[in-house]
Amino acid sequence: MLICKTPAEMHSACKNLRNANKTLGLVPTMGALHDGHLSLIAAARAECDVVVVSIFVNPTQFGPNEDYAAYPRTFAADCEKLESAGVHVVFAPLADEMVTPDTTTFVDTGELGSRLDGASRPIHFRGVATIVARLFNIVQPDRAYFGQKDAAQVAVLRRMVRDLNFPVQLTVCPIYREADGLAMSSRNRYLSPEERQRALILSKALAVAQSLAQQGESNAEALRSAILETFTTDPQLRLDYVAVVHPDTLLPLADTSHGALIAVAAWIGTTRLIDNLLLPA
Ligand code: PAJ
Repeated sequence: MLICKTPAEMHSACKNLRNANKTLGLVPTMGALHDGHLSLIAAARAECDVVVVSIFVNPTQFGPNEDYAAYPRTFAADCEKLESAGVHVVFAPLADEMVTPDTTTFVDTGELGSRLDGASRPIHFRGVATIVARLFNIVQPDRAYFGQKDAAQVAVLRRMVRDLNFPVQLTVCPIYREADGLAMSSRNRYLSPEERQRALILSKALAVAQSLAQQGESNAEALRSAILETFTTDPQLRLDYVAVVHPDTLLPLADTSHGALIAVAAWIGTTRLIDNLLLPA
C-alpha cells in the first residue's frame, strides 16, 4: 500500500496509474475509520482497478466552536484497516500542504449549502465542497464513493459535480449501522456508555416514521410529528432539526408519495449526531 503525503506526490502517482489504463476509485475520509468507511471501500474495490483513500481532517469544514482539534486521529490503526481492506493508495496530506494559509478560492455551495446541516454549520459545506474539489483535481478519479449517512453532503456534492462538470461518477452507499441500529460515525467514540444508549433514539425515531410510511402515511408533517414525539421521551436531547425534504434540493416537502429524505440531527450531550431515511417514490 502506497502512502502519499503531498498533493504533488499523489498527483504523479495517480497520473502513472491512469497512464497504465487503470480505473481509479476515490474514497474521501477524515480517518478514524469504522465499518461504514470500509463498506465504501468494498464498493470501490468491486468496481475499480485501483482504490485510493484520502485521510484528511479538513479544517475548513469545521466551525470555530466545533470539534476540529478534538476530532479523533488514528492514522496507524486506519492504515492497518486499509491494508487489510486491499486499498492500493492512501493520501494523507498535512493540513498546511493541503490548505495553505493564503488560500482564497473556495467552492460556493449557494442556498443548497445552507440547508439541513448547513443551517447550523454555516461554513461546513463550503469547506466540504472545496476539499472534495481539490481531491478530485489531485486524484482525478473515475469514480468517487460517499455515504448516504451524510445525506446533505451527498446533495451538495452531486450538485457540485454537475455544476462544475467534474468528470467523475459518484456512487452513494447505504448507511452502515451497528447491530442495534445506531448509524456508524467517527463521532460515536465521543459518547459515554450512557449516551451511547440514548443515541439509539435517532434510529428509533426514524424507524417509527418508516413504519408509518409503510402503512401509507405520506403527509410530511405527520411523519415529522411522529419523530418529534419520539424525541420527547428523552428530555435531555437537544434537537437541531427534523426535516422531510427532497433528497436533491433539500427543500421541505408536504407530501412524500414521490419519495423523500427524512433527516434528523441532535446533540446527545456535547456530541452532534445525524441520521436519515430515504423513502422511495
Ligand atoms: P467522514 O465523516 O470521515 O466520512 C467519509 C465518508 O464515509 C463519507 O462519504 C460518509 O458519508 C461515509 N460514512 C460515514 N459513516 C458512514 C456510515 N455509517 N455508513 C455509510 N457511509 C458512511 O464525510 C466526510 O468524512 C468529509 O466530509 C469528507 C467527504 C471526507 C470531506 O472532508
